[in-house]
Amino acid sequence: MTSLFDPITVGNISLSNRIVMAPLTRNRAIEGLLPGPLSVEYYRQRASAGLIIAEATQISAMGQGYIDTPGIHTQAQVTAWRKVTDAVHAEGGRMVLQLWHVGRISHSSLLPGGAAPVSSTSRRPNAKTFTRDGFVDVSAPRALRDDELPGLIDDYRQAARHAIDAGFDGVEIHAANNYLLEQFLRDSVNDRSGPYGGSIANRARLLAEIMQSVSTEIGANRTGVRLSPMTTFNDTPRDSNPQALYTEVIEQLTPLGIAYLHMIEGETGGAREPEDATVPFDYAALRKRFSGAWIANNGYTRDGAIEAVASGKADLIAFGRPFISNPDLVRRLRENAPLNDLQADKLYGGGAEGYTDYPTLDAQKP
Ligand code: PHB
Repeated sequence: MTSLFDPITVGNISLSNRIVMAPLTRNRAIEGLLPGPLSVEYYRQRASAGLIIAEATQISAMGQGYIDTPGIHTQAQVTAWRKVTDAVHAEGGRMVLQLWHVGRISHSSLLPGGAAPVSSTSRRPNAKTFTRDGFVDVSAPRALRDDELPGLIDDYRQAARHAIDAGFDGVEIHAANNYLLEQFLRDSVNDRSGPYGGSIANRARLLAEIMQSVSTEIGANRTGVRLSPMTTFNDTPRDSNPQALYTEVIEQLTPLGIAYLHMIEGETGGAREPEDATVPFDYAALRKRFSGAWIANNGYTRDGAIEAVASGKADLIAFGRPFISNPDLVRRLRENAPLNDLQADKLYGGGAEGYTDYPTLDAQKP
């Protein structure tokens, strides 16, 4: 039987165990939207994860949606991320970067020249974001023209190249949580006509073209994707037929031979089986159609994670909040040791407190 603690090779990345640190927004980027010394320490402390997926990181200045989230579109950002990946590699860890564009989940005050956020649509969601002035309604978006999409695809390609230059072992394309790429996928948002709107195949096209471009640039064996078919995160309704939509997404991605698929099951950070979902989502049916490694995420307990890997339901399990409060989560899971409590008021922004000061088991020994 396969164990959660067994090694695995994902694409061309060899991992010492199947426990993944999920991407976690912490809003602690320093001047220039770069990871600073505290972020180097934070990731170094968590390097015993089989794989770290670094926090969502914008591919371009237009991709930002919250204050103090890092980017990967300037040379200074590449140089700063290199310090993070060097620290993780020195501890024997592996790390990929999550490439992010928020689309319409943004505010003009965060964007170059006070620009409107961009999306598949010009309709504003009933969502909020966090700016210098605190929580505010997102700004009305502008629908991208079809002739702007090659430039967008190229921003992803360039960001992936930068990630490799910064020493990452690969990248994860963020197509979840109702940020830009999911704003193209879902018919609850995408109201376009033309090649990127309407049919399921058309709505899946932009993601497939980005995955193709990034795979060509850095290798499919270093490229993954994150999806969240059932989430209503960012106040966005589900697609009218999530099962059909995400089946098509996988049909389009499978021929590329990408390294992994990272699946958020249910509501992001919430119910794994949302009560308001009329039809339960069949994740296993999708998995059968996908040839790469399968990372499952969302609210897994130790027992649930061990069972999912042993039964073959998933190849790896990603943990989010438990990795924030337990730098040595792998050891704690292995030894069935108690976990530290999360300081929920220290998640977003601030300094070392609730970031790099969670104790390891060794530090807690009397
Ligand atoms: C957040 O900033 O809260 C956030 C960012 C990316 C996600 C989910 C949440 O995918």
